[in-house]
Amino acid sequence: MDDLPFALGTLEPGWVWLVGAGPGDPGLLTLHAMAGLQQADVVVYDALVNEQALQLARAGAALVYAGKRGGKPSAAQPDICDRLIAEARAGRRVLRLKGGDPFVFGRGGEEAETLVDAGVPFRIVPGITAGVGGLAYAGIPATHRDVNATITFLTGHSSDGVVPDAIDWPAVARSSPVLVLYMALKHLAPIRERLLAAGRRGDEAMALISQASLPSQAVLETTLDRCVADVAGSRIAPPAIAVLGASVAMRGKLLSLARATGRADGAIGAHPAPGADTPI
Ligand SMILES: C[S@@+](CC[C@H](N)C(=O)[O-])C[C@H]1O[C@@H](n2cnc3c(N)ncnc32)[C@H](O)[C@@H]1O
Repeated sequence: MDDLPFALGTLEPGWVWLVGAGPGDPGLLTLHAMAGLQQADVVVYDALVNEQALQLARAGAALVYAGKRGGKPSAAQPDICDRLIAEARAGRRVLRLKGGDPFVFGRGGEEAETLVDAGVPFRIVPGITAGVGGLAYAGIPATHRDVNATITFLTGHSSDGVVPDAIDWPAVARSSPVLVLYMALKHLAPIRERLLAAGRRGDEAMALISQASLPSQAVLETTLDRCVADVAGSRIAPPAIAVLGASVAMRGKLLSLARATGRADGAIGAHPAPGADTPI
């Protein structure tokens, strides 16, 4: 990092950086994320952060797990915020590492608010969100001029753990040709019903991408009608992104060269891992 032609920021004692780690492949970390990792005294990281990214932390940095995964023992959000504040007030350089982008379904906004309330200086380092980077690694363009001028990102899981009834499903169904759903696996059946009831076609192309950008990435191509049954017989497991819309069909063409040569590799944005693109 010393021979870069430009300066990266300094993570100062008493500061917190809220940093996005991207969807998993450590190569998707930003330079700012890497610089922060190499300066931090304490790295407080989430369950979705790839442990390989943690290997970039400065030798001697304390690595603190603060994962929250559905159904598993979890760090409580107030405890995480208290820890960030306490570490910063003790004069440490604190890096809060979160999967994807901290401000996209990642509670980074809440953590930033708490830091403001506590008077702790902080910086946001955006990351590549799974709903964009994960699609790219599956060979699905988030937008394409022939398909969509708009895209909608939504969560299938609200803070109380049920399908978000606060969502206006008819409005969402009409909103964009392409819908990208985070945390949709658990409530896929009622989400499917709501989207069908709201007018999305049952034969519409859908893909589920799990462990996006990791060697364990799996992609399931299905339709809105069949998605629940197809997921049940597949390797798709959390974390997974669901994408509904005609852009899903484009992956056939985008991956065709790689499939023909047996190399679904990074040259076209798919993952190099063998089997990552095998139909499941
Ligand atoms: C709490 S949200 C965090 C989102 C994150 N802040 C982001 O910007 O990607 C967790 C959800 O993100 C999605 N996700 C995160 N990483 C993923 C990955 N590598 N592959 C597929 N989905 C992923 C899944 O929908 C997962 O349930």
